[in-house]
Amino acid sequence: MNKALRPAVIAGNWKMNKTPGEAVQLINEIKPLVADAACTVIACVPFVDLQVVLGAAADSNIRIGAQNCHFEDHGAFTGEISPAMLTAMGVNVVIVGHSERRTYFGDTDETVAKRLTAAVNAGMTGILCVGEYLEQRQQGITDELVAMQVKIALKEIKPEQLGQVIIAYEPVWAIGTGLTATAEQANQVCGVIRATVAGLYGQAAADHMTIQYGGSMNAGNAAELLAMEHVDGGLIGGASLKPNDFAAIVAAASK
Ligand code: PGA
Repeated sequence: MNKALRPAVIAGNWKMNKTPGEAVQLINEIKPLVADAACTVIACVPFVDLQVVLGAAADSNIRIGAQNCHFEDHGAFTGEISPAMLTAMGVNVVIVGHSERRTYFGDTDETVAKRLTAAVNAGMTGILCVGEYLEQRQQGITDELVAMQVKIALKEIKPEQLGQVIIAYEPVWAIGTGLTATAEQANQVCGVIRATVAGLYGQAAADHMTIQYGGSMNAGNAAELLAMEHVDGGLIGGASLKPNDFAAIVAAASK
């Protein structure tokens, strides 16, 4: 982290977990544990939980986000949710391009770019996920691949909109597996992402970009990962469903 230059952001990704009732219970458990956070705290919850969780979190420092959005405002797109719908509810953060969307639901670099652009144009903050599969790391193409994902996703993002983008480096082999990238690996690729942003928008813009690490970040390894220069926060899956673990990660980012 380099808090002098850029905000530290810890975001929970609840994935497809928690009914509305369970979600309210979970957010109510998390609230007091992160009330003193000296970093930005976000919870990205299932669409059907947004309304009740927004209500439950209204008196807290937790920002509530969605886990995906479409690129059109409205239309014949069965099962999709638009940025306009989200902002109308008061939701102004959304994850785009998570590897589970790319792997299981056909999101591509092109559709991720469209989703990110639509979210940002709607005034939202987009958390753009990028990262390599294990075979790609073994082939030695991680840096090029991640740089390409970033370049395609940002191609329609104007310089003045860059403050609405957070990038999450999530090596796919580390997500939900208990395998974490080493702090050095995470820092190296987050550094590649920062250099890519610098190439597109200049060094000052890159210095202000929050770049998270995600992939089995937990209460035990968060401090070491967050101590790295280019790791400005975390996108947390499994551990975000455990209030004490999530709070420990928030505390590590609050140092
Ligand atoms: P994990 O998930 O923390 O459970 O590995 C991270 C993510 O998918 O964002």
